[in-house]
Amino acid sequence: MEEVVMKNRGLLLAILVAVYVSPALGNFNQDVSVTWGDGRGQILNNGQVVALSLDRTSGSGFQSNNQFLYGWFQMQIKLVPRNSAGTVTAYYLKSDGSTWDEIDLEFLGNATGEPYVLHTNIFSHGKGNREQQFYLWFDPRADFHTYSVLWNPSQISIYVDGTPIREYKNLEGAGVPYPKSQAMRLYGTLWDAEDWATRGGLVKTDWSQAPFTASFRNFSYSACVWNKGTSSCPSSVSPTGTGKGTSWYTQQLSTEGENRMKWVQQNYMIYNYCNDPKRFPQGLPLECTLSSKSS
Ligand SMILES: *[C@@H]1O[C@H](CO)[C@@H](O)[C@H](O)[C@H]1NC(C)=O
Ligand SMILES: *[C@@H]1O[C@H](CO)[C@@H](O)[C@H](O)[C@H]1NC(C)=O
Repeated sequence: MEEVVMKNRGLLLAILVAVYVSPALGNFNQDVSVTWGDGRGQILNNGQVVALSLDRTSGSGFQSNNQFLYGWFQMQIKLVPRNSAGTVTAYYLKSDGSTWDEIDLEFLGNATGEPYVLHTNIFSHGKGNREQQFYLWFDPRADFHTYSVLWNPSQISIYVDGTPIREYKNLEGAGVPYPKSQAMRLYGTLWDAEDWATRGGLVKTDWSQAPFTASFRNFSYSACVWNKGTSSCPSSVSPTGTGKGTSWYTQQLSTEGENRMKWVQQNYMIYNYCNDPKRFPQGLPLECTLSSKSS
């Protein structure tokens, strides 16, 4: 597959970028590094799987070697089996610095047989407070499921097994900050948060069950790679590329997608910051009022 360097820095860079971005199916050995956990995070099966573990001493985590400015990321995750209360398995994109951007999926564990919660948040320019939480319509500990993030200039969407559960539109024109100028890395982590994760901290981690393990596999992505101030997109999304107008770079939710998202939000959403006015005495965040007007 051929890549196009948006700001032309010469053929050599173009070739290097092509080598980096081409594979749609990622290999963890090439794409990520285990950055903490002292051996508790391991890349297995020739780069097909990352297993993270957590015990009383430490959790563990990995991060992508590249930074991205827009992309379409898919990961299959199998969460901590049985009693995972107090544990958090996180899968997120984040930029550096004090006014960072972040797209966050945190899976909050639970006692055996009790439901996991998928906690999501979106930070723009260092400010979050945009939590939405969901139950899932399956047991995420029993098998791998696909969790995806679409981040392009017009919207951020989060998908579970291909079903959109959340959308954050670019409403910059109306004054809502949108992540669009800071490159982000992809992270996967497993850590303990027994103070708040499960029923607000009522259920603590049962350390006799440690080590806790979550597995990541089948990472695939198409993304614009950020390298020394230059963003290099796959040719399929570049303005001169073959897929112009049809790729993830310009994708928006279809009417069907919007309907499926509504179904999830009606049946599985358990918290939405937009429905929590007492948290915002000065008034709900602007994007909440704008999106309720438009729907
Ligand atoms: C854990 O289970 C309880 C009881 O079913 C539920 O109220 C809670 O939302 C679940 N998830 C978390 C993360 O607390
Ligand atoms: C891996 O992910 C791709 C899409 O990203 C999907 O088509 C394929 O079925 C997945 N493989 C497995 C084993 O689930």
